[in-house]
Amino acid sequence: TPVTPTATPPMGWNSWNHFGCDINESLIKGIADSMVANGLDRLGYKYVNIDDCWMASNRDSSGHLQADPTRFPSGIKAVADYVHGKGLKLGIYESAGTATCAGRPGSLDHETTDAASFADWGVDYLKYDNCNNQGRPAAQRYKTMGDALKATGRPIVYSLCNWGEDSPWLFGPGTGGSLWRTTGDISDSWSSMTSNLDQQAGLEPFSHPGAWNDPDMLEVGNGGMTDTEYRAHFSLWALLNAPLILGNDLRSMSAATKAIITNPDVVAVDQDWGGSQGRRMRDLGGGLQVWAKPMSDGSVTTVLLNRSASAATVATSAAELGLGGSSSYGLRDLWSGTTSTTSGTISSSVPSHGAVMYRVTRAGTSQAAQAAGTYQVSDL
Ligand code: DGJ
Repeated sequence: TPVTPTATPPMGWNSWNHFGCDINESLIKGIADSMVANGLDRLGYKYVNIDDCWMASNRDSSGHLQADPTRFPSGIKAVADYVHGKGLKLGIYESAGTATCAGRPGSLDHETTDAASFADWGVDYLKYDNCNNQGRPAAQRYKTMGDALKATGRPIVYSLCNWGEDSPWLFGPGTGGSLWRTTGDISDSWSSMTSNLDQQAGLEPFSHPGAWNDPDMLEVGNGGMTDTEYRAHFSLWALLNAPLILGNDLRSMSAATKAIITNPDVVAVDQDWGGSQGRRMRDLGGGLQVWAKPMSDGSVTTVLLNRSASAATVATSAAELGLGGSSSYGLRDLWSGTTSTTSGTISSSVPSHGAVMYRVTRAGTSQAAQAAGTYQVSDL
């Protein structure tokens, strides 16, 4: 069983994709401030996660981890107190090896001590990496930490970061993990994002409440892709029930970035459980694909994806989406907000490296019911 059950995919922010090792306590506090100031917390984003490089290069004389005295002079507990004071939760990072990827002290064979430190400091989420693992079996390394976290009695969401090695979707649940990386690291490019996407096909059976496939953190707003590409990235991650862990600088994001990460209808798709994470229904060739996910209200969300170099029409049908049996369907375009009806054909022009996302509902279902399950956040 998970250390801490997660009914829906975790949502929050992590320092790595934008800042790498260049982190400190004022950054983390500033991010927490921005999360609340931008209303992200009201949409469900609540974890503020510190990645690698928060630690001093050595343990203290009694063997405890300590924060880097220059970057985090007040210590992690003070940062946790600050983040909690904003109504948010604090996440931290370690590695199931002798050192982190950046060479700071690892938790292998120190699991009990380190889990107790995290709990003492008020940590709510642990991302547990895989560097310097000495070739010891992953299932064992990850379970030892999961057991240590459980023993603290503090609810701590346990995120396994072993890059998809040794099929974490199989061994992860037995370690207490609630989510597991399925791939190597994402980078801020269309090719990296789509490569991670392709590696999700076939993993659908392993995703369900309490157990989430993690295609890695979001790159939306980091500058290496266009806004059209970022909309596709966010659409697809939502369709996959991926953890929505933002990776951009929330303190200085553009209006376009904010509009993407705060689209309540798209966030609602991510947070809805209709019995399966989204899947690639059809590859039409030439980089055109139809992805779909059943929703708990009986509707289906589809992403029409164009991976080609020019605009193209991508089409599917209500029947192909598993929604036969009606003469009329309602379509809600989750990015434009417009609604329309169709007798069955679902088709749109999709820009190059773009996605069109529709929620498809059998006729007779009211607009209010179509919106049910979506967030009503009018004051963002
Ligand atoms: C590898 C992980 O996959 C990344 O997400 C990040 O945590 C780095 N390690 C940090 O060193």
